[in-house]
Amino acid sequence: MLEEIANIAKNCRRAAVLTGAGISAESGVPTFRGKEGLWGKFRAEELATMDAFMANPKIVWEWYNWRRELIGEVEPNRGHYALVELGRFFDDYTLITQNVDNLHRLAGSTEVLELHGNILRNKCVRCNRVVAETVEIDPDNIPACPSCGGKLRPDVVWYGEMLPEGVIHEAFRKSEASDIFFSVGTSAIVHPAASLPLSAKRSGAVLVEINPERTPLTDIADYYVAGKSGELLPELVNLLDQLSAGD
Ligand code: OAD
Repeated sequence: MLEEIANIAKNCRRAAVLTGAGISAESGVPTFRGKEGLWGKFRAEELATMDAFMANPKIVWEWYNWRRELIGEVEPNRGHYALVELGRFFDDYTLITQNVDNLHRLAGSTEVLELHGNILRNKCVRCNRVVAETVEIDPDNIPACPSCGGKLRPDVVWYGEMLPEGVIHEAFRKSEASDIFFSVGTSAIVHPAASLPLSAKRSGAVLVEINPERTPLTDIADYYVAGKSGELLPELVNLLDQLSAGD
């Protein structure tokens, strides 16, 4: 099936990719759902919300520091690198991620639409000013915003919060303009991100899903490839390279 997808992709000018936690699973970052998922161990509404932060900023920061530490120890995998390479085959290529782990950037993707923010950045809980990258936070002594004195929080989207407006707008625009759309390693249930592949397909894109498990998107996708992104994406890039060499 990958051969067929490569043959179609070869004739597409514009591509968009949406990634979820599954792309980072092979790097050792836990996904959100599933047996070993983060949300299985912690209750999201107790940690990833503004109410939680207002009630107990220390616990919320301890959790984010733990996640930062975990992410600091891992590296991008072959899937992240393949998504850098995939861009070579299209005139217009957009990488959209729900992940906050920064691994696409570390792999070399320079332009990434980060729908849910980036865990390495901090911002002010009051005035939203992004303060500095990778400032370490002591949960017992949370630094104050230099502008307004509000507490610093991680620059990620919490439950009940809107996505960064410019970013989600651009993600829809590029998805709808794409000729081929890849949904990779996402359970495709959290909206509005999960609407992107649907919107792309409705606008005429060929929809490809890569995931070891079926999702609500699987029956709608034109091609569903069951497997790991760290294995399938490099294979797809190889096939495209072979096709290009044959031209
Ligand atoms: P999930 O944890 O919901 O889903 C991860 C998906 O990755 C599952 O469908 C797995 O089958 C798949 N997967 C696992 N290993 C894989 C591999 N090696 N290759 C490819 N796929 C693999 O994560 P997301 O869909 O990213 O939001 O979750 C969406 C959002 O829910 C997150 O961004 C987060 C959470 O609430 C916020 O924090 C705002």
